[in-house]
Amino acid sequence: MHNFSFRTVPHIVFEAGASKRLARLAAPVLKDAKRLFFVTDKGVRNAGLIDNALAALKADGFDVFVFDEVVADPPEAVVLDAAAKASEFGAQAIIAFGGGSPMDTAKVVSLLAGGDQPLSEMYGVEQVRVAGLPSIMIPTTAGTGSEVTNVAVLTTGATSKRGIASGALYADMAILDPELTLGLPRHATAATGIDAMVHAIEAFTNKRSKNPVSDALALAALKKLQGGILTACDEPSNIEARGDMLLGAMLAGQAFSNSPVGAVHAMAYPLGGIFHVPHGLSNSVVLPPVLKFNAAAAEPLYAEMAAHMGLAASSAGLIAEMERIAEATGIERRLSQLGISHNDIPRMAEDVAANDRLLPNNPRELTYDDIVRLYEEIV
Ligand SMILES: NC(=O)c1ccc[n+]([C@@H]2O[C@H](COP(=O)([O-])OP(=O)(O)OC[C@H]3O[C@@H](n4cnc5c(N)ncnc54)[C@H](O)[C@@H]3O)[C@@H](O)[C@H]2O)c1
Ligand SMILES: [Fe+2]
Repeated sequence: MHNFSFRTVPHIVFEAGASKRLARLAAPVLKDAKRLFFVTDKGVRNAGLIDNALAALKADGFDVFVFDEVVADPPEAVVLDAAAKASEFGAQAIIAFGGGSPMDTAKVVSLLAGGDQPLSEMYGVEQVRVAGLPSIMIPTTAGTGSEVTNVAVLTTGATSKRGIASGALYADMAILDPELTLGLPRHATAATGIDAMVHAIEAFTNKRSKNPVSDALALAALKKLQGGILTACDEPSNIEARGDMLLGAMLAGQAFSNSPVGAVHAMAYPLGGIFHVPHGLSNSVVLPPVLKFNAAAAEPLYAEMAAHMGLAASSAGLIAEMERIAEATGIERRLSQLGISHNDIPRMAEDVAANDRLLPNNPRELTYDDIVRLYEEIV
């Protein structure tokens, strides 16, 4: 028998058009809070996505500070600036509205504005000592699953990506509104969707924390994501496909929050941290060689996922399907297409080899030389 514990966000709403009813839906979390710190980015704001939600909150008498300065792979400096503004404003609750970058920023702002622990002491696993302000996550990519995870990933120093994993990072509510994702461009739809599929795959093969609840969620997520991703790319306004993507990303988020990701994410981080390659795209590019490498240790698990997706029950079946999806979406497949060359590999591999949060989750151990070889395969 195998002991485990499983946690997730206590309240999840899935409803097309939900953001228009934000004030009412959020009432059980907001309680007496009247001063809301609203975290987003300029892309989301300029696309007009926050207008209905803001109008609804203001009409219901909330005082809202909109922080729209989040950038992709949020640097610490932006998070600290947001936290200072939230404190100065007297924020009583935090609302995140956007992809993983605004959500991760908001989750950390809720901790910083709600307590006195310095950010530098929060990195790693369960290092957070403060509870944080009430928070609500509204994703606009389908994607990271950050709305239901206990993780926030920030860019520290000039180029490194570091994670905070803590129960204190669970939001109080996630509101999933597929209408918000209808305008997500094809490339971002593909990349963030493949990120979600990688979350499910890595949760299912985690060496340390694999558990039956995460397993069930990961399989359900893969089915939804595999079924929706190409339709969402080809027919962007197909609300059913968009809904499946959003649900799949959330289910995968619940899975990996309790059975964390491994070498694919560890090898993707330097692409984002150093070269600013979007997170989902980074994962998609490094996925094939890592799956082939891991197959020696994880063949039965890859076969189980492949069979569940209606494919040949083998790692080869799963790898071929992930390659087919990436190819069909038209996203980049090689490091050289992203401006990364042989010369960059040693520096990236050092970063990966030092990742003691994620590498131990991987089904097969990786040495520095393995990491270099895997990057070389996709230059
Ligand atoms: N916390 C977690 O559990 C977790 C998991 C995976 C990744 N992440 C992190 O999340 C970040 C990546 O998040 P992401 O992939 O969601 O992208 P993102 O939040 O960085 O957004 C990327 C771009 O898409 C735009 N955008 C977002 N939604 C849109 C919409 N509906 N229509 C049009 N444009 C839209 C944004 O304006 C932005 O320019 C990375 O920092 C990554 O490390 C966190
Ligand atoms: Fe991810």
